[in-house]
Parts: sequence; structure tokens; C-alpha cells
Amino acid sequence: MIKRILLIMALMLVVPAITWAAGPHDSLSCTGCHGIHTAKGDIIFAVEPNTKAINPRTKKPDSGVSALCLGCHENEGGMGIMPVSAKHSHPWGVKPNPKVASVPNEILRDGKLECVGCHDPHPSNPNHKYLRVDTKGGANMVNFCALCHSSKAGKRTSTSAIFSSMDETAFKPAPAPAKKPTTKK
Ligand code: HEC
Ligand code: HEC
Ligand code: HEC
Ligand code: HEC
Repeated sequence: MIKRILLIMALMLVVPAITWAAGPHDSLSCTGCHGIHTAKGDIIFAVEPNTKAINPRTKKPDSGVSALCLGCHENEGGMGIMPVSAKHSHPWGVKPNPKVASVPNEILRDGKLECVGCHDPHPSNPNHKYLRVDTKGGANMVNFCALCHSSKAGKRTSTSAIFSSMDETAFKPAPAPAKKPTTKK
């Protein structure tokens, strides 16, 4: 518990130093998630993967990237930062049944929908809640659901709308911000 509070305080201390897309992961300043010489998991992750929380779909703890997110974002086995619980959540850790969802390949990991299927967690992502698709601050969530559930949404969100930070060859600096929506804090 003390360790958790200290970590959060340490993370928060660096907040004012940097602003990218001005989301809360900015405060992690790269090395909050990637331990350059102190890695504890894959992709030189700085946080222990969560091996405790049981995914109700697989009846096992998560693996891969999702276990890394849940090292922070779960109460059970994680640090309890903005916790999400699989029991009360949209499924993850599943190989999509094509009748239920049509998921673009590039956002699957090992054929499965994981946290990063819906979120790109890098500070460069300007979208609401680090979602893969712009939802106008959450007001147009249908745009996001329509990426994988088109027949429910009545339209298909093009894969070109997917935000991805995972291809350095495709990076273009963001254009100057258009008119800023009035943000509620
Ligand atoms: C909130 C945690 C988090 C933060 C903060 C973060 N990353 Fe990542 N990083 C990840 C995750 C998760 C992945 C894997 C994403 C995926 O598979 O789509 C990743 C992947 C990467 C990769 C690619 C690894 C590979 O094998 O392809 C690089 C490079 C990287 N991050 C660099 C950075 C840099 C530089 C920063 C700071 C600007 C940063 N990251 C901040 C979580 C984070
Ligand atoms: C090192 C700990 C850490 C890891 C690992 C981490 N996050 Fe976070 N995340 C945070 C913190 C800290 C916040 C801000 C919490 C707050 O404001 O109370 C946050 C906030 C968020 C938010 C809310 C953003 C908003 O605008 O409100 C999302 C979504 C999120 N994280 C997704 C992810 C996903 C997906 C992963 C894995 C790819 C991940 N995080 C990995 C620490 C982490
Ligand atoms: C099917 C897509 C989907 C998957 C999979 C998913 N999320 Fe999310 N997540 C969302 C959406 C949509 C929101 C925003 C909900 C809203 O604003 O009402 C969200 C919000 C969040 C938040 C912010 C919660 C808050 O109180 O604001 C966090 C943290 C988060 N997700 C982490 C994760 C982690 C960690 C995983 C994997 C273990 C994950 N998500 C998997 C779609 C997804
Ligand atoms: C990136 C792809 C993706 C996005 C975006 C997405 N989903 Fe899903 N959704 C899936 C997958 C994959 C499943 C699990 C399919 C299966 O059971 O194999 C699923 C399942 C569901 C289910 C069935 C849940 C259950 O317990 O069986 C509902 C309901 C659902 N999604 C609603 C939504 C809503 C609402 C949104 C938008 C807020 C959304 N999804 C966004 C991929 C996605």
C-alpha cells in the first residue's frame, strides 16, 4: 500500500515537466512504463505483469500486453490505479468470434483482442481515453464501436481512422491543434 502511494506520488511529480497530447500517461514519462535497465517484463516493461487477476473468459490470468496494463490498472494483483475489472468489462484476451466482432488484424495481438486493441497507450495519442479512434471526447462513441461492430452501428469505421504509434516509418508530426474543445477537468 505504502509502496503504491509512493509510486503514484513519484509518477505525479513529473507531471508539469512535459505535455504531449496532455493525457495522464504523459506523467509516466516513458520510463514509468519502460524500465530501461530495470525491466520486469516484455517490451522492457517497468511494472510487474499482473499474474493474479483471473480473466472470466479464459479462467486464467492475462498474459502479454494486457497483463502489463493490469499491473497498474487492477486492484487484484495490480496497483489499483483507475482499476478496471474483467468481470465487469467488455471482453478482452479473446480470439474474436467473427459473428460478434470484425477486428482489424493490425490491432490484434497473437490473434486476440487485448487492451491495445481498443487503446493505444502512448502519450502521442490525442484521443479520449487513449482510444484507437477519435470519438469527439466520448460524445461519438459509436464511431469507435463501429470499428468492430459495424452491423450494430450501421456504418463501418475505416481502418485508416485507427490511431497507431507503433510504426516509426509512418510518423508525421501532428498538425497544429484545430479549435480546442472546451475541456472539463
Ligand atoms: C502507459 C504505459 C506506456 C507508456 C507511458 C509508454 N509506453 Fe511504450 N509501450 C507500451 C506498450 C503497452 C507497448 C506495446 C504496444 C502494442 O503492442 O501495441 C509499448 C511499445 C513501445 C515500443 C515498441 C516496442 C516493440 O517491440 O515494438 C517502443 C519503442 C516504445 N513503447 C517506446 C516508448 C516511448 C519512447 C515512450 C515515451 C514517449 C513510451 N513508450 C511510453 C506502454 C507504454
Ligand atoms: C505504470 C502504470 C501504468 C501502466 C502500466 C498503464 N497505465 Fe494507464 N494510467 C496510469 C495512470 C497513473 C493514469 C492516470 C490515473 C488518474 O488520473 O487517476 C492512467 C490512465 C489511463 C487511462 C485513462 C485516460 C484518461 O484520459 O482518463 C487509460 C484509458 C489507460 N490508462 C489505459 C492504459 C492501458 C490500455 C495500458 C496498457 C497498454 C495502461 N494504461 C498502462 C498508469 C498506467
Ligand atoms: C472493446 C474495447 C476496450 C477494451 C478491450 C479495453 N478498453 Fe479500456 N476503455 C474502453 C472505452 C470505450 C473506454 C472509455 C469509456 C468511457 O469513456 O465511458 C475505456 C476506458 C478505460 C479506462 C479509463 C476508465 C475511467 O474511469 O475513465 C482505463 C483505465 C482503461 N480503459 C483501461 C483498459 C485496460 C487496462 C484494458 C485491458 C485490460 C482495457 N481498458 C480494455 C474500451 C476498451
Ligand atoms: C477493437 C474491436 C472492438 C471494439 C472497438 C469494440 N468491440 Fe465489442 N467486442 C469485440 C470482441 C472481439 C468481442 C468478443 C467476441 C467474442 O465473444 O468472440 C466483443 C464483444 C462485445 C459484446 C458482447 C459481450 C459479451 O459478454 O459477450 C458487446 C455487447 C460489445 N462487444 C459491445 C461493444 C460496444 C458497445 C463497443 C463500443 C463502446 C464495442 N463493443 C467496441 C471487439 C470490439
